[in-house]
Amino acid sequence: MIGRLNHIAIAVPNLEDASQVYKETLGAIVSEPVPMPDHGVTTVFVELPNTKIELIEPLGEESPISAFIKKHPKGGMHHVCFEVNDIFQARDQMIALGATIVGAKEPAIGAHNKPVIFMHPKDFLGTLIELEQKD
Ligand code: CO
Repeated sequence: MIGRLNHIAIAVPNLEDASQVYKETLGAIVSEPVPMPDHGVTTVFVELPNTKIELIEPLGEESPISAFIKKHPKGGMHHVCFEVNDIFQARDQMIALGATIVGAKEPAIGAHNKPVIFMHPKDFLGTLIELEQKD
């Protein structure tokens, strides 16, 4: 069912420092920070030839990644995102197979303006999985 790896998201305590690591140490192309108040994160995109890395920093008091940063003060891998052809079909299939959808079961508009759902790490080898509707 899953298609291309769309991105890997890494939660970081400081976006500027994190961007420097990817830019200066690893020599990657890194975008300017984009604040996404609706999602409670500020994001930077690292463009790689075959996929993207998203560095995400908590934004605001209610950020959904604040607890993660508390647990992983130096940052850490937060989720992986796979593309699917039909987000509703994917959701129904996941529920039928017993996977736990995180939060609302209706696909929400994600950071790329496409519908996404998140699936609980307990069902996927300890990894939070995002499914994103393909173009
Ligand atoms: Co994501």
